[in-house]
Amino acid sequence: MAHENDKRLAAEAAVAEIAEGMRVGLGTGSTAAFAIEALARRVAEGLKVEAVATSDATAAAAFAGGIVVRDFADFATLDVAIDGADEIDGDLRAIKGAGGAMLREKAVAAAARRFVVIADGSKRVERIGAAPVPVEVLPFARASVLARLEALGAAVTVRPGYETDNGNLVADCRFADLSDPHALAARIAAIPGALGHGLFLDEVDTAYIAAEGIVTRLERDRSSR
Ligand code: A5P
Repeated sequence: MAHENDKRLAAEAAVAEIAEGMRVGLGTGSTAAFAIEALARRVAEGLKVEAVATSDATAAAAFAGGIVVRDFADFATLDVAIDGADEIDGDLRAIKGAGGAMLREKAVAAAARRFVVIADGSKRVERIGAAPVPVEVLPFARASVLARLEALGAAVTVRPGYETDNGNLVADCRFADLSDPHALAARIAAIPGALGHGLFLDEVDTAYIAAEGIVTRLERDRSSR
């Protein structure tokens, strides 16, 4: 229950950043659901925004909350996107995709001027890598993609009976060595039929992490890049 309260606090802190007229990307998962609720409350109070959703479930929840939901296919850029994470470290590197939406989530994050992660303290880690890295796999190329992921050192589990909103499979990959995540991300991205993965290494601008009722804001220093 404490985690639920922290998720809500982190989500509310991020939603407070949303201003009139913004185009907002809405993430997927239990923490993002609190952001949708908080945004719905602000919309009910008169805030005007347009949202795009990273999953069918999020689109349905946002619509039910009275939020205007547009088709992301028509948006080249967004003002902000708010989403959860499975792990996030002090360099704002994250693993996402336990909810299976990482391909759409990354497309939305990339389009957003600011990408904000919201999380309870259990997601904050010293270094990412304990969580599996989910990879969206084209079913047509299943066996060859899985073999290439194993060749990268992954113990691979295909989520049983699961299909993404894009009609694809998810392979959860446990890597013994995640010491060079950028190199690993490039190798996964180079596999034909691997359509996306849950390593978000450079996307996150800001994180609101709430632990035991205290919200901490982490900001990426873009000046040193
Ligand atoms: C959805 O595909 C994921 O990337 C989620 O953002 C992530 O799994 C966090 O979900 P929770 O907020 O439910 O932990």
